[in-house]
Amino acid sequence: MAFVSSGYNPDKPMSDRISDIGPRNYEEFLPPVIKKNFGKWLYHEIIEPGVLMHKAESGDEVYTVRAGTARLVTTSYIREACAIAKEYCGGHLRWTTRNNVEFMVESLEDAKKLKETLNAKTFPGGSHMFPVGGTGASISNIVHTQGWVHCHTPATDASGTVKVIMDELFEEFTSMKMPAILRIAVACCLNMCGACHCSDLAVVGYHRKPPMVDNAYLDNLCEIPLAIASCPTGALKPSKMELPDGKTVKTIAVNNDRCMYCGNCYTMCPSLPLADQEGDGIVLMVGGKVSNRISNPKFSKVAVAFIPNEPPRWPTLAKVTRKIVETYAAEAKKYERLGDWAERIGWERFFEKCELEFTHHLIDDFRDPAYFTWRQTTNFKF
Ligand code: HEM
Ligand code: HEM
Ligand code: SF4
Ligand code: SF4
Repeated sequence: MAFVSSGYNPDKPMSDRISDIGPRNYEEFLPPVIKKNFGKWLYHEIIEPGVLMHKAESGDEVYTVRAGTARLVTTSYIREACAIAKEYCGGHLRWTTRNNVEFMVESLEDAKKLKETLNAKTFPGGSHMFPVGGTGASISNIVHTQGWVHCHTPATDASGTVKVIMDELFEEFTSMKMPAILRIAVACCLNMCGACHCSDLAVVGYHRKPPMVDNAYLDNLCEIPLAIASCPTGALKPSKMELPDGKTVKTIAVNNDRCMYCGNCYTMCPSLPLADQEGDGIVLMVGGKVSNRISNPKFSKVAVAFIPNEPPRWPTLAKVTRKIVETYAAEAKKYERLGDWAERIGWERFFEKCELEFTHHLIDDFRDPAYFTWRQTTNFKF
């Protein structure tokens, strides 16, 4: 490809270098009605799924239309969003903390027109480009990670599993029929980039085999003590080994009985890969939340020990997810998050109602705190 210089001079890399300028100030991008009423909002209403209204002290109103996005999008898609913003919103738009896109207008009439326009836009395959929804007691966008699109440590794919679940639960995105909001997150390994440890329902990529050791290269590629110290269970120790060519090298010995396949050592050391087609899959976690509403924030808990990777449509994942969501929607009281519900009825009832198998995998065995997750009471239901 023909090289086109941006003006950067590789022979003088530090000349004309601009650095530490930080992000643009958000005030530069505020729609006029937002700028004018900043800090003076009185109340808000959800007019209908995907449409919010905020009333200001001045009497001004702003209508926000929220639409789903795939998070991973092309510049053409961004341009499409900009074209809509230009036509309806004076060139303004914003993205939410769950990667939905929001368009703001100043009348309900404009909001309804905008909603119609957004819902009518589709990709050639038939999928919505900007499905309107994600407000109130619904299932909004899935916070997710890189997967096989870009990361080197995943045990599953992010964009693929997210598309599968959002297709399965699309109806819940465009309506508000849940007892409370149900937040779903996906992380493709247990680094959990994102929100899996604190979501109502979480999909986490999981390995089931210990790392392979590339003895010939390990000491050349890795800082051995770093890899040793990366293991939460002390499964690794330094060792020496004679290669087939007679050369003795420093390397690492893995105690397979102590390894629980977290993949941390591979993050530290390129010579310890562990991804595996049959071994890798998904763990489902449930019951986390970050708000302080009524109950304190909660961690999500492991509910399903293993669901196989079934690209491209992950049918088992879709089925189990739907079952949990439907049971919660049918059984929980108004305002109860999934974790509030499970804790009120007891986890033994949660497993029964969601028809999930309870296996030894779900019993905590990590260090002293594991003890506190067992039951030191006779209060339980048969
Ligand atoms: C400003 C001071 C220092 C700097 C910038 C520095 C920088 C570095 C760097 C870049 C490495 C290579 C890490 C890698 O990529 O694997 C290294 C390794 C090392 N440094 Fe330093 N270092 C400093 C001070 C020290 C001091 C004071 C000690 C000892 C008292 C020390 C002992 C070591 C040792 C033993 C290693 C090899 C570790 C290994 O490969 O196992 N360094 N250091
Ligand atoms: C209980 C104490 C210690 C433990 C368990 C320990 C453990 C280890 C281990 C596992 C390695 C990796 C060996 C390998 O590359 O094969 C290592 C390397 C190293 N340790 Fe220690 N260490 C200890 C104390 C110390 C102390 C006191 C020093 C220095 C004053 C030290 C300096 C180093 C250095 C320089 C290396 C890097 C050797 C290399 O470049 O290959 N260690 N240590
Ligand atoms: S969750 Fe793991 S695999 Fe996924 S992007 Fe983050 S580090 Fe990579
Ligand atoms: S995968 Fe995790 S548990 Fe296993 S050896 Fe590596 S760091 Fe330890």
